[in-house]
Amino acid sequence: MPFEPFKTKVVERLPNPTRRERESALERVGLNLFGLHSDEVRIDLLTDSGTGAMSDRQWAAMMVGDETYAGSRNFTHFEAKVREITGFPHIVPAHQGRGAEHLLFSTLCRPGQVVPNNMHFDTTQAHVVHAGGTAVNLAGPEAYDAVSDYPFKGNVDTVALDRLLTTEGKARVPLVMVTITNNTGGGQPVSLANFTEVARVAHAHEVPVYLDMCRWAENSFFVREREPGMGSRSIAQIGRSFFDLADGATMSAKKDGLVNIGGFVAVRDAALAEQLRAAVILFEGFPTYGGLARRDLEAMTVGLEEAMDLDYLEHRIGQVRYLGALLDQRGVPFLHPVGGHAVYLDVDRFLPHLTEDDLPGQALAVEIYREGGVRSVEVGSIMFPSGDQQQRPLELVRLAIPRRVYSASHLAYVADVVGRVYDRRNSVKGLTMTYRPPRLPHFTARYAPK
Ligand code: F0G
Repeated sequence: MPFEPFKTKVVERLPNPTRRERESALERVGLNLFGLHSDEVRIDLLTDSGTGAMSDRQWAAMMVGDETYAGSRNFTHFEAKVREITGFPHIVPAHQGRGAEHLLFSTLCRPGQVVPNNMHFDTTQAHVVHAGGTAVNLAGPEAYDAVSDYPFKGNVDTVALDRLLTTEGKARVPLVMVTITNNTGGGQPVSLANFTEVARVAHAHEVPVYLDMCRWAENSFFVREREPGMGSRSIAQIGRSFFDLADGATMSAKKDGLVNIGGFVAVRDAALAEQLRAAVILFEGFPTYGGLARRDLEAMTVGLEEAMDLDYLEHRIGQVRYLGALLDQRGVPFLHPVGGHAVYLDVDRFLPHLTEDDLPGQALAVEIYREGGVRSVEVGSIMFPSGDQQQRPLELVRLAIPRRVYSASHLAYVADVVGRVYDRRNSVKGLTMTYRPPRLPHFTARYAPK
């Protein structure tokens, strides 16, 4: 059982919706769990993004917010911290990850271009498409195997990357992006050896390399644990080895920044930074606040540092492993090995009697909510419709664990709820979509039982 390296100072009551209330909530939201009110959710594992608990030091940092429009001292602190962590000289804040993606892709990506990634997250893919580009996923074959214990399932297939860059040429590929950890593929890490090869291949084709660094501290933890020769290096040093190979990064600080809102783009190139600063003024806010209150920048400065603490990371990833171990005891199939921020249920093995047309991931997420008020999210054919991808990502239901929020007994409750659904899995029926919005359907679609 993971040992909490913190104690509680403030508490928040957990809602306890009855079965009848859960049933009527499901009816109201058209079986889309994004439509639920927080009071209808007992344990919320929808996302690890912006849902964490800030520390006493972060709350104290909020109190030294210098709410100056231009030139706030909070920006100076924030800029220095991100420079220290990444080594990138130019830091442009944004309100969250997709704000950073908007700045980068609207600046670098032109219609008809192609952007490779190990696996795009939904918003990253949407921003490539919004800029007129095509998003290509190039994770290795291990990423599509839910059972193997391969330690770096986030790795890029660098032979396929070289082939793509040779075929398309640098004029058609504005950047190569690598997402650490690979969220779409199960929160799986990328090795330093693999990223080194990605950077070598991309730079040989004169194409810049960017990191989607949302979960860089968790990725560094896995590298430290699993990659030969890395065990004695700090999280900061390992992270820096990645950044030293890259040309820039986008960040949603709602993950490994340990804040409820915030993000940034960090780049090496001064001319590009000028373009990004012009874009941030248009879309987010002045370059010294990027759509955030300045106190949020100060909280992020502290959070980025706390995310690299080994005691914190051992507990964090220990919680995900603990949930995985409890589910394993009940025979529940999930993607192996468990990732950094979530356990991803393997829907094909959980509900083998359903086909892709039955929207099995969504059907499973709905049943888990119905059973015990636990909210999860489908990461499968609805979030990533086939046709968008060369190879469809696995059909998964993600149980994402917010940072520093839930206890071991909460996780035991979740394992029990999921275990009960597994015991009655043959009764789970398929769904049809009754409303399909034009973009990012999973957020607002509606469903009905078949
Ligand atoms: N990149 C990755 C890998 C992400 O996981 C996310 C968000 C983003 C970019 C966008 O960041 O939400 O701050 O705009 N992931 C959340 C999730 C939403 O639930 O996995 P954002």
